Amino acid sequence: MHPGPSLGLFIFAAAMANCLPVLAEPDRVPKGARLAQDVAKGNCLACHAMPTDAKAVTSANIGPPLISIRARFPEREQLRRQLWDAGLTNPDTVMPPFGKHQILTTEEIDLIVDYLYTL
Ligand code: HEC
Repeated sequence: MHPGPSLGLFIFAAAMANCLPVLAEPDRVPKGARLAQDVAKGNCLACHAMPTDAKAVTSANIGPPLISIRARFPEREQLRRQLWDAGLTNPDTVMPPFGKHQILTTEEIDLIVDYLYTL
């Protein structure tokens, strides 16, 4: 029995799947920035001042400005938790529980975290 096209396709797909994370890597920060700014996704700018690019900083002040993130969140897991469900650290927070309420996927949260660590 010869392998047929499906095995070939499978090998091709497996090879592509292996390459994709590596190919996508340089895009992570701009992707995270877009998700953070997108009003239908993170919409972080509604509440936080943050550098949206090299020049602009918004003036929203419902939450603290998102700057010096590495100094304030040395533990990546702590920052992911803040985005997953801010209510874990402050049950009265107005910050939406992005992960818990499936506003953002785990991957989207990770992309935003990669971006935040550049601020
Ligand atoms: C509806 C308003 C609102 C939105 C939208 C919002 N946040 Fe917040 N966020 C807050 C508030 C208020 C706090 C202050 C802490 C608290 O309430 O417990 C906070 C705290 C934080 C903190 C902790 C800062 C610190 O120094 O302790 C981080 C990090 C953060 N937000 C990131 C984000 C990101 C990233 C987004 C977008 C994906 C976002 N927030 C969207 C309101 C918001």
